[in-house]
Amino acid sequence: MVNANGDEQLRPKRSDLHVAIIMDGSGRWATARGLPRSEGHRAGRAAVRRVIEAAPQCGIGTLTLYAFSSDNWRRPESEVFELMRIFEGFFHVDAPALIRRGIRMSVLGQRDRLPVSLLQAIEKVEASSRSGGQHHVRLAIDYSGREAIVRAASQFRQTCDTPAEVFARLLAEVEQADEAVPDIDLLIRTGGEQRLSNCPLWEIAYAELYFTPCLWPDFSAADLDAAVREFRTRDRRFGHLPALV
Ligand code: IPE
Ligand code: IPE
Ligand code: MG
Repeated sequence: MVNANGDEQLRPKRSDLHVAIIMDGSGRWATARGLPRSEGHRAGRAAVRRVIEAAPQCGIGTLTLYAFSSDNWRRPESEVFELMRIFEGFFHVDAPALIRRGIRMSVLGQRDRLPVSLLQAIEKVEASSRSGGQHHVRLAIDYSGREAIVRAASQFRQTCDTPAEVFARLLAEVEQADEAVPDIDLLIRTGGEQRLSNCPLWEIAYAELYFTPCLWPDFSAADLDAAVREFRTRDRRFGHLPALV
């Protein structure tokens, strides 16, 4: 974990990792089975729940799940409609069960283009889990890393505090996050592509990257554990020289 200046802060405690996942490959998962893409997204919802449940045992304190990018509005209306319904189902059915297990949930992203019923479900989940446990799950919906930076930058000019910290706080505000969270330590992308697709760009400045061909609906607790284990073997230097052994 590094602070907003890019300097090394305390290394994250073993239970304190911030992991982000670009959950890709659900459409291909369905197509490979002769199913409509929406079935892949439904199977993806089950994987979301699995991974959230497994995260605390893997030492993950904050989990950011990239569910829908602002660029995904370009998809056919029918697919977008199905995705919004699936998100709503998640917030109505899965989220309350997860909150009862002590998980806090919040949503990052633009919000004002979401269906009203989805927005209400999100607000209810956020309100009921705000005082929740130490494990924080953030779902990025209608999220664009670039847009977030541009909007924070437009509010940045008037400020005179320690710049990077102020900027990180402004960014959290425009992302609708209620606070700046630690930088992302590990970024996982499923589905085989090796790109970032407008994910939280500021927060990944020193993230370790982990790409896997596994399609999102097949991603299991064991896969998450394998990614975190691999992460723990990496030598994170934050600009310093390698540790002498
Ligand atoms: C990611 O899976 C989910 C969203 C972007 C909403 P995709 O729908 O992109 O799945 P593929 O990449 O087409 O297989
Ligand atoms: C990235 O997946 C966004 C999410 C997983 C939410 P995409 O499938 O939209 O990314 P590209 O289009 O392949 O870059
Ligand atoms: Mg994709």
